[in-house]
Amino acid sequence: EKEPENELPQDLGEFLSSLPKDKDWVLPHLYQYQGFWHSPKYFRGLLACQQHFQPLDTDIILITNPKSGTTWLKALVYACVNRVIYPPNSENHPLLTNVPHDLVPFLELELYNELNHLPDLSSIASPRIFSTHLPYVSLPNSVKDSQCKVVYLCRNPKDTFVSLWHFCNKLRNENQGTLLLEEAFDLFCRGVCINGPYWDHVLSYWKASLELPRKVCFVKYEELQENPFVHVKRLADFLGYSFTLEEEKIGVVDEILKLCSFENLSNLEVNRTGILSHRGGGENQAFFRQGKVGDWVKYLTPEMSDRFDQITRQKFEGSGLDS
Ligand code: A3P
Repeated sequence: EKEPENELPQDLGEFLSSLPKDKDWVLPHLYQYQGFWHSPKYFRGLLACQQHFQPLDTDIILITNPKSGTTWLKALVYACVNRVIYPPNSENHPLLTNVPHDLVPFLELELYNELNHLPDLSSIASPRIFSTHLPYVSLPNSVKDSQCKVVYLCRNPKDTFVSLWHFCNKLRNENQGTLLLEEAFDLFCRGVCINGPYWDHVLSYWKASLELPRKVCFVKYEELQENPFVHVKRLADFLGYSFTLEEEKIGVVDEILKLCSFENLSNLEVNRTGILSHRGGGENQAFFRQGKVGDWVKYLTPEMSDRFDQITRQKFEGSGLDS
């Protein structure tokens, strides 16, 4: 099947060369499109998804900055909305044998990133759950125009940065060696990281959640860690899958939290030794490191921490967002 004419730039290379470029953490370069940095590997997916993705009103789209807890959010939402067909304590629950990324695929990184091929999403049972790292400005207009629900998970910039630094170093090959923390820090502060600037990404969804509270639900990783019971119930309410009192009483919410906990997921065979079915078959275990809040103190100097605080204050000032 050939690509429909005029729908993707005929020569992606030529298109990329018209964009600002800077250093990537893994591959040679990132390119800036609509104000955010992207890997050339995923431009095809980004553009195709913007042009072709047609959400259903019942769809759920999970959105994050990379390393903000995407894997956890995917597991929680999947377990919540499918709890009737797959009770969270059932022995054949799909989360026991599939990495959450294989149950909730990425739009631009996987589904729309196949060469010469658009995905057929019509056979997926509703409610369909998809995910993306795209910033609000680059989200397909069809998503903004439809009734589908969007959940945005945000994590504090310091832990997100440290997690991203570890993750990218796992993706670099031996010849590249380790990306120094100081260099990564400088790039991150300048906004040069995948889907960066981090702060603009968060802010764009924070604003959308204030303007469209029934469409966009804004969740914080730290709050989810602190009080998962309350926040998963809030999430279920938002998505239209509220837990009944009876379900709460018999422990369905607790079962979901247990199933999706870092301890449980990270120790499953599929997540210890499995390989992703998409995106070049990376190792599932790369998505599970510590799963803690505040791990950054082991890595950032007081000066680095101050710099992050300063940027965060400056970017989030007046927005009502403080983390
Ligand atoms: P750390 O590197 O700080 O440990 P993403 O899923 O967006 O790639 O984010 C990965 C981060 O989420 C990693 O953070 C990872 O350990 C953490 N994580 C993965 N599964 C989790 C879970 N079930 N509960 C809490 N955190 C989890």
